[in-house]
Amino acid sequence: MSTSIGIHDLSLATTEFVLPHTALAEYNGTDIGKYHVGIGQQSMSVPAADEDIVTLAAAAAAPIIARHGSDGIRTVIFATESSIDQAKSAGVYVHSLLGLPSACRVVELKQACYGATAGLQFAIGLVRRDPTQRVLVIASDVSKYDLDSPGEATQGAAAVAMLVGTDPAVLRIEEPSGVFTADVMDFWRPNYRDTALVDGHESIAAYLQAVEGAWKDYTEHDGRPLEDFAAFVYHQPFTKMAYKAHRHLLDYVGFASDKDTISKALGLTTAYNTVIGNSYTASVYLGLAALLDQAEDLTDRSIGFLSYGSGSVAEFFAGTVVPGYREHLRTEAHHESIDRRKTLDYAAYRELHQRTFPADGGDHLTPAQTSGPFRLAGLRGHKRIYEAR
Ligand code: COA
Repeated sequence: MSTSIGIHDLSLATTEFVLPHTALAEYNGTDIGKYHVGIGQQSMSVPAADEDIVTLAAAAAAPIIARHGSDGIRTVIFATESSIDQAKSAGVYVHSLLGLPSACRVVELKQACYGATAGLQFAIGLVRRDPTQRVLVIASDVSKYDLDSPGEATQGAAAVAMLVGTDPAVLRIEEPSGVFTADVMDFWRPNYRDTALVDGHESIAAYLQAVEGAWKDYTEHDGRPLEDFAAFVYHQPFTKMAYKAHRHLLDYVGFASDKDTISKALGLTTAYNTVIGNSYTASVYLGLAALLDQAEDLTDRSIGFLSYGSGSVAEFFAGTVVPGYREHLRTEAHHESIDRRKTLDYAAYRELHQRTFPADGGDHLTPAQTSGPFRLAGLRGHKRIYEAR
């Protein structure tokens, strides 16, 4: 019998601040129905001046280390598409903030919003090679588009940390996977830009094409039939996208694609994304957290995942929920992380959005804003200075 490998623990963190879409709509004169119904978003997480992908990642991962210790963690995989350095992995800062052992490899992975799924699969490969090891996989992103652009309404920020190992307490990840790649310019961020460039409508079409491609490959590799799945977790750049994607999949396989069927299959997966916004690599795993935290009982049920990253790469894979999983969930902490956010008005959000560090190599301290466990204290000699509180 092959070893069971998967997600042993999962923890999320989000930002200090939140901007309701009502404030954005009031500022730019958009009918709120477009945000609440058209794209399915209520609010977006906004990082404080002293938060970034590292502080979010460390905040997500710290409770995992507190519960399980760091023994056996010999690899940390940090997935992001809002990288803070072209050379050094953001994971090395997290490794230091969490006090992980030096006998550890740490690496950063990138392929738009898909990166964390690559991280999860690579982690499974490492654990299969040496079942005594555990891998910490972290997805952390700040989604940032230009002010006054169509993408502005689909920003957000969050991190999800997952401990991957044998005999997982939460979710067994199954083989096979269905994979898909196509060279598409739907979303990208050249090295000289802080904000992403996106062709939103092209991106929706590319996502749907990738759903089809990944599912086709999954079935060609003897994957489960569609009716086996109790729920579907999609990457959610905005929650309405999950509905579009599942409708497309149902139509593709020739199943009924009415609203009720779709809501039943994925309704519970959108609860965190609709109030956090797009968290890029973390988005699909926020969907998983929301499903597990809210569903009545998924013991021994299969969940289908569709991970999409613009550019584009996608993967369809399945996970089976492990008996007793509910004792290991962090539902209360997840709600606390979301509910603790302080509401910004539009002007304060805009000011935070426009903040950048001067590139002069001088000392630049950040204002103390976050109440989270880790903060970015500033920049000194081009080096980011982090502190635990
Ligand atoms: N009430 C209800 N729905 C409304 C509405 C109203 N008053 N006004 C518009 N809508 C609907 C539209 O019909 C549309 O729904 P549909 O897609 O089901 O037809 C939806 O709201 C969005 O309207 P649209 O005109 O397409 O918005 P937009 O041009 O501002 O673009 C995005 C929306 C999501 C494409 C844009 O925010 C974007 O580029 N986001 C970033 C990229 C991204 O998220 N890509 C996804 C793949 S990773």
